[in-house]
Amino acid sequence: KNIAIIMGGYSSEYKISLKSGSVVYKYCNKEKFNLFSIHIFKDKWVHVTENNEEIPVNKHDFSILVEGQKITFDCVFNAIHGSPGEDGLMQSYFKLLGIPQTSCDAYQSALTFNKRDLLSVLKPYGIKSAASYYLNLGDAIDENIIVSKVGLPCFVKANKAGSSFGISKVYKKEELKAAIENAYKEDDEIIIEGFLNGTEVSVGVIKYQGETKVLPITEIVSENDFFDYEAKYAGKSQEITPARISKVQEKNVSEMAKLAYDVLKMKGFSRSEFIFIGDEPYMLEMNTTPGLTEESILPQQAKAAGITLSELFDNAINEALN
Ligand code: DAL
Ligand code: MG
Repeated sequence: KNIAIIMGGYSSEYKISLKSGSVVYKYCNKEKFNLFSIHIFKDKWVHVTENNEEIPVNKHDFSILVEGQKITFDCVFNAIHGSPGEDGLMQSYFKLLGIPQTSCDAYQSALTFNKRDLLSVLKPYGIKSAASYYLNLGDAIDENIIVSKVGLPCFVKANKAGSSFGISKVYKKEELKAAIENAYKEDDEIIIEGFLNGTEVSVGVIKYQGETKVLPITEIVSENDFFDYEAKYAGKSQEITPARISKVQEKNVSEMAKLAYDVLKMKGFSRSEFIFIGDEPYMLEMNTTPGLTEESILPQQAKAAGITLSELFDNAINEALN
């Protein structure tokens, strides 16, 4: 079978995605699958060969021409973080072309990529989240109202972005405007959330051999003020799997992450972030194309569950093909 591993993307996360994609390429079973790296950038969609040659992708049917021979794909392994791989655009395109892909469907991708909408949809299911306030580009900014709704400190976040791009922790009312401007660099929608002072955990939920499976939970201990870009990618954090949490906390957060996955009819990978207030988990967000580098959280969780990266990726392709 021909498998296209798509990576890159249009957002600030493209570099992380190229790493994730190369790890997928490295660990996928090359005896079973013919693997093709495909870079998806705004100005070009290309197959990058092992000799670093670039072959353009025909967007009409997602095919490539290699030595005069047309190659089409049986499955797409999605390793794009952010748009257009995590927000439903690629999912819609592949659905229309009839090519199976490893992440969840278009609606679920678009919904989960939008923090505001995700948390609102999950609320009636008992999934709690921080006090929040929303802004769209052009909205009037009233710092007094914002502070009265969410308190201080608070987090100002781009509503649709990943890897902490655009996120600031704000301690003083006077810092809000700059934080909001910074978040608008990533998205034209902003979510401002009250600070939750508790243990942060990351919960991987995947479809594994046809069943929804919760992976061992990871505790996040950031050396920085919060789990920002540097903490995530420059080693300024400790990620402890399994998390040092109580049995009750483990049960609550596992059930909640699985509930979210199942009620939304998710497929493929997911990694949800929570903060505990007492025994109660509060959801921050869900990621549907989580980082897949060897140091990334989901691969660490899979390893802790006794699943090798090769098995994890093989399973993802099998799930997509079934
Ligand atoms: N958005 C990054 C890649 C993650 O969730 O791991
Ligand atoms: Mg994220």
